[in-house]
Amino acid sequence: MTNDSGLGFGLLGTGLIAPFHAKAIRAARGARLVGVADTDAARLAKFTAEFDVPGYFTLEQMLADPAIQVVNILTPNHLHTEAVVQAARAGKHILVEKPPAMSLREVDTMAATCAEAGVKIGVVLQCRTRRSVQAIRTALQQERFGKVYQADAIMKWFRSANYYRQDAWRTSRRSGAGVTIQQAFHYLDLLQYLVGPAKSVHAQMTNLAHPGIALEDTALAFVTYQNGAQGVVEASTALWPGTDVRIEVNGENGTAIVVGERMDTWKFKDDRPEDEEIRHLGSAAVATGATGAADLGFLDHQAVIEDMVHAVADGREPMITLASVRPTLEWALAMYQSAKQGTSVELPILDEDDVW
Ligand SMILES: NC(=O)c1ccc[n+]([C@@H]2O[C@H](COP(=O)([O-])OP(=O)(O)OC[C@H]3O[C@@H](n4cnc5c(N)ncnc54)[C@H](O)[C@@H]3O)[C@@H](O)[C@H]2O)c1
Repeated sequence: MTNDSGLGFGLLGTGLIAPFHAKAIRAARGARLVGVADTDAARLAKFTAEFDVPGYFTLEQMLADPAIQVVNILTPNHLHTEAVVQAARAGKHILVEKPPAMSLREVDTMAATCAEAGVKIGVVLQCRTRRSVQAIRTALQQERFGKVYQADAIMKWFRSANYYRQDAWRTSRRSGAGVTIQQAFHYLDLLQYLVGPAKSVHAQMTNLAHPGIALEDTALAFVTYQNGAQGVVEASTALWPGTDVRIEVNGENGTAIVVGERMDTWKFKDDRPEDEEIRHLGSAAVATGATGAADLGFLDHQAVIEDMVHAVADGREPMITLASVRPTLEWALAMYQSAKQGTSVELPILDEDDVW
């Protein structure tokens, strides 16, 4: 398939993340960018000029184009559900940015609507596609770690006051702008993807460095996983200049540490010939978002796009299903509930309306 005849993608939203999607689609095999939509006329005009692509002011207008087969939902977090439902009912496949929604109820609505419409939905949690992450997952599946004792995410990032002030939704907890559900969601998801769902969490949230913005810019949490492992999450956008995220998995027979997208430590009691190559996966030169929102490459997004191309061609589910992300959202919501109540929260959470 060439880029002229590939699966047609349309972007809803031409804000900060949209250029990464556009570049990823352009670079992906079997995909082409055929339209974009945004209610903000100035943003839309700038984007359509830069990427030389037709623009629409509403999702409805864009959905009428039969060349669009997949819609990438790149609107603020609290607006995803409505758009997903509308696109699914129009018969389009969907890639929704993370977090997929702001409540489990909305995730279930999305899943039911997509199933009813017979369309595919994947979530853009591109860190799962990293080779270092896949190596850990394979080793876990092969039980090379033995019993997993600990799994942690340390995300000491920085976002400026200007980042928060550029759009109204970025200062609203209910819109999903706090560090827990916005930036750290990727790494809660990796821990959940690798080690499994959380059983209980105890979180504290503070605003260290962004006075006047009514959000947590820092979250600390203890987690107990369903499989008995323990872990900590340290997530912040207050810590200048921002350093690469660190994911650690420690078991009775091995330890793996990923820093940014690079394998930092890979050591097992049963050392194998392939381990030498795994130790060199990834690169410290690849930006993974530590110092600012634009401090990011698009190769991981490209992998998500190419996966959707194959999912549609082969009639299979996308790699990052909504069902596989639901426990990550529940973990994030439980952290908010725990911080609000000042106690540990057991999952499943009982009242998701009592979170914010
Ligand atoms: N995967 C990643 O690494 C990553 C990184 C950054 C952002 N994101 C996610 O991408 C999404 C968008 O984030 P962003 O930073 O680009 O936000 P943004 O505010 O910069 O862009 C959102 C755009 O959506 C437009 N919009 C809002 N409502 C609309 C509607 N009803 N119809 C059409 N357009 C509408 C806005 O005008 C704006 O241009 C969020 O879900 C965010 O969490 C993901």
